[in-house]
Amino acid sequence: MFKIFITFIIFTRSCWAANESPNGAQGVIPNSTKLPEKVYSNVYNIMKYSKSYSNMTFEEVKNFLNDVEDWKAPENISKRFPYYLTGFDFEDRPIWVCEYGKYQWDDLMERNSTELMIVTEKLLRKVVLNVFKSLAQKETPDRTVRQAVLVIDYEGFNMKQMTTVFSHPEIIEFIIRKSDEYRDILVAIIGEIVLINANFAVAKGIDFIRPFVGELLERLTILGANKYKWKAELRRLIPANFIPPWYGGSKDFKPLAVFA
Ligand SMILES: *[C@@H]1O[C@H](CO)[C@@H](O)[C@H](O)[C@H]1NC(C)=O
Ligand SMILES: *[C@@H]1O[C@H](CO)[C@@H](O)[C@H](O)[C@H]1NC(C)=O
Ligand SMILES: *[C@@H]1O[C@H](CO)[C@@H](O)[C@H](O)[C@H]1NC(C)=O
Ligand SMILES: *[C@@H]1O[C@H](CO)[C@@H](O)[C@H](O)[C@H]1NC(C)=O
Repeated sequence: MFKIFITFIIFTRSCWAANESPNGAQGVIPNSTKLPEKVYSNVYNIMKYSKSYSNMTFEEVKNFLNDVEDWKAPENISKRFPYYLTGFDFEDRPIWVCEYGKYQWDDLMERNSTELMIVTEKLLRKVVLNVFKSLAQKETPDRTVRQAVLVIDYEGFNMKQMTTVFSHPEIIEFIIRKSDEYRDILVAIIGEIVLINANFAVAKGIDFIRPFVGELLERLTILGANKYKWKAELRRLIPANFIPPWYGGSKDFKPLAVFA
């Protein structure tokens, strides 16, 4: 299973990369056209009203996004934190899946939490930009897709991971600070969050983060470890060919893009 997963990561990544260059440019792509124009303007329009980024000019936002676009996570980090775009739902909302339960933070926290926070920040920016790019993908002159659906799978997540977080006050402070910084933007672009395989440790995590995430909490559907229940719920939300077979979707499933 894992091997198949890695294979399609590589496969779909190269597909995505192939259509990433908007003008098939040779050599250096000018700053202003690294991303589709509507990505710059959509991000700018949302940042303008956010608490933390409202003072940036359109040019600054463009340069900021170009930097995010250019950044590549070191492979020893990116392979630990895969996430993917499975497709689009009935309302053309992009569906992003994050297998959070598989993410391994513990040793990185113990190693050097400063280094971890620096790379997490960059990863976060990359994720948010990729969500914006997926929103723009279905956009037409008379139709705007504003929000994405996020599915987070917590299988494998446990109290030990929570305890490790709580033994690092600087990480707690980081989570609170980042929640505050990104809240307005996430509220604007995440329409629905579905947690699957949510266990006791997840409930503890939600209790902790509750005061900092505002409206996002109202968009949360929490589904436990009962596979029948969450598979049925996912199929209600998402066309089956856009659900990975291991989540009860169709065998023909192919993710549109995989990142880390
Ligand atoms: C925007 O405001 C932040 C503090 O909120 C500050 O650190 C940053 O330098 C400001 N940026 C610009 C371009 O004014
Ligand atoms: C291109 O973007 C970089 C940062 O991403 C910035 O430092 C540089 O000044 C920009 N160049 C132009 C021509 O805008
Ligand atoms: C990843 O690789 C880089 C360069 O090889 C190294 O400096 C860094 O410590 C590694 N990080 C982890 C988490 O293994
Ligand atoms: C941890 O990482 C930061 C940022 O890369 C670095 O400045 C610091 O020296 C590192 N600390 C240790 C103990 O290696």
